Amino acid sequence: MKNIETQKTMSIENEIKRLREEIRKHDYNYYVLNAPEISDFEYDRLMQELRGLENENPELVTSDSPTQRVSGEPVEGFTSVKHMVPMLSMDNTYSFEDLKDFDKRVRDSLDVPQVEYVVELKFDGLAIALQYENKIFVRGATRGDGTTGDDVTYNLRTINSLPLKLNDAAPDELIEIRGEVYMPKKSFERINKEREENMTRHSPGAARNLFANPRNAAAGSLKTLDPRITAKRGLGVFCYGAAGSLGFDTHAELLDNLKKWGLPVSSPAKICYGIDEVMDYCNEWIDKRHNLPFETDGMVIKVNSFAEQEQLGATAKYPRWAIAYKFPAEQAVTKLENVEFQVGRTGHITPVAHFQSVQLAGTKVSRATLHNFDEIARKDIREGDYIVVEKAGEIIPYVVKSLPEKRTGSEKIIREPEKCPVCGGDVYRYKDSAFLVCENQGCPALVKKSIVHFASRNAMNIEGLGPAIVDQLVDSGMVKDYGDLYFLEKNKLLGIERMAEKSADNLLSGIIKSKKQPVAKLINALGIRNVGEATARALAERFGTIEKLSAASLEELQEVSDIGPEVAESVFSFFRNPNNEEVLHKLADAGLNFGNDEYATNTKNIPQVLEGKKFVLTGTLPGISRPDASELIRKFGGSVSGSVSKKTDYVLAGAEAGSKADKAERLGVEVISWEEFLEMVGDGSDGRDGRDGRDGSDEFSQGTLF
Ligand code: IVH
Repeated sequence: MKNIETQKTMSIENEIKRLREEIRKHDYNYYVLNAPEISDFEYDRLMQELRGLENENPELVTSDSPTQRVSGEPVEGFTSVKHMVPMLSMDNTYSFEDLKDFDKRVRDSLDVPQVEYVVELKFDGLAIALQYENKIFVRGATRGDGTTGDDVTYNLRTINSLPLKLNDAAPDELIEIRGEVYMPKKSFERINKEREENMTRHSPGAARNLFANPRNAAAGSLKTLDPRITAKRGLGVFCYGAAGSLGFDTHAELLDNLKKWGLPVSSPAKICYGIDEVMDYCNEWIDKRHNLPFETDGMVIKVNSFAEQEQLGATAKYPRWAIAYKFPAEQAVTKLENVEFQVGRTGHITPVAHFQSVQLAGTKVSRATLHNFDEIARKDIREGDYIVVEKAGEIIPYVVKSLPEKRTGSEKIIREPEKCPVCGGDVYRYKDSAFLVCENQGCPALVKKSIVHFASRNAMNIEGLGPAIVDQLVDSGMVKDYGDLYFLEKNKLLGIERMAEKSADNLLSGIIKSKKQPVAKLINALGIRNVGEATARALAERFGTIEKLSAASLEELQEVSDIGPEVAESVFSFFRNPNNEEVLHKLADAGLNFGNDEYATNTKNIPQVLEGKKFVLTGTLPGISRPDASELIRKFGGSVSGSVSKKTDYVLAGAEAGSKADKAERLGVEVISWEEFLEMVGDGSDGRDGRDGRDGSDEFSQGTLF
């Protein structure tokens, strides 16, 4: 009997191992080689299969499994860690003359007529050190001051192109790989767009929340304390070196091997003989770089032989065997034709410069935001001026300055509009703010943007309702707010330009389908100031229904974790605004899902047995993810925090519990197991009895309580 059991476990273990290897291979194909061999559907199926087996056999879950990328718990701060060897920075230059001087210094010092270099892209992100031991990713750190950096292991683990385990060809000893974390242009654009959409009416400072360039975005995303945020940012990694030579003779060989071990190495690295070849290769990339899916701000030139590198040594700051060649900034002079005032969803009026189109960083540009009126005044930009435009971080066009010496006298000073350019309503400038805001709730610009937000994927997810159709619906008078969407008639829709029968049907069915969206999505869709996706979810969890949420007092709203007075105030006033009340009636009449009491926390069904108790979770819990376990604790009235302190009541420890459990013991905090926890909240209440062996977390949401 025992034998059969053992055999069964062995074969499950093998199957888990096989699935992990297969998924790792597909991750590599997809994220590193950009050449997927299977469809997303097939990939998801493999992941699901692995998740299923791991949930049934929690003791077989290991930290290098592809299912374990996101730990799901914020940390309180980063620990400082020491690099194996210091991470130096690099001398850099914009001129080929300096490159020739560099080459001469190297040749003289090595006493050779010609040097073999490796020339690679200079990735514009932030440097990191990745440690692997027994092929497993064990630690990752930022550069910091070069000697010690921040331990950002949990954030790095969420980056899909970073292998949690190297393949068989890699060495077993502890190695430290050096590389760069970057943000692909696509992720950068997506994130800034999201941030722009989340700008709130009365928080003009939010404009400053936009990332200036992918490098800042990468740094911000890696240095957040919550790995779940990093996971959403779509970061990438490129490896370009190691601490030491790892037993290889040349840098090129090292790169080849890093690639063989499964690490992402950018392919355009080339061996160049002599500085002329180096300069040719740099020239080749000045234009070609714009076609890359990520930013590079130059090329890095490295002496190929490790023996020669050693001979050359380093100054206090820089190695003498490497130099960065930075590409010239992409700027162009053009004529500012006019300035348009755009009104956003939040009512902010943004001046946008329209200029004669110029070629910049590989694309044609003809417009750039001027941000606000203070900036226009500070730069003394006038209509008709010649201006210098640049691509900030190579992506966002930006007006650097005007050229007053080129003025003819016919240029016009740009004045702040006194009325909203869209609705003619009053505009308001908040104290100490550089932004003008249209105050008219019915302004078509605001209405259109709020409907686009309402229909967006993370809100009501109405397919086929993009900005162009919304424009037509609002301009034709058919829709005055998002509530009207649910009362659209097909024959009227067909009156819209280019609206064919089939598109009308699709749109209507998309609208009908959206009525079933979960209440959290609806709360997000409403466009309440300061309420984004996460807050909407928290509100849905706490109140369960729109009725309860709309009746909540300021105090009750503030009881929801992470909701402060400002957010509470915007939720409270949203539901007391007569216009909004009217729209909500339309949504109710249309039969949207306004939620139900069962869904809410603190319903009488759930005994608040953990009231006031503070938990910290650590290790792998059997069959339930940490976020789901945290949710469960909150539903019973407890709270969860990321780190152990004297105030912690219980540390809930699963398999491979780490330092948190040790700290708990030191502080005399009680450490309990999952089973003990279940006893605390009452038998059977977790809804998992393992009978059908499905994913515990899945059942948890369908269990008896909910
Ligand atoms: S090698 C001593 N290679 O540039 C040389 N660095 O300005 C160590 N960087 O801190 C770095 N791409 O963050 C190297 N292909 C590349 C690189 C690269 C980008 C960054 C790195 C470094 C900075 C120095």
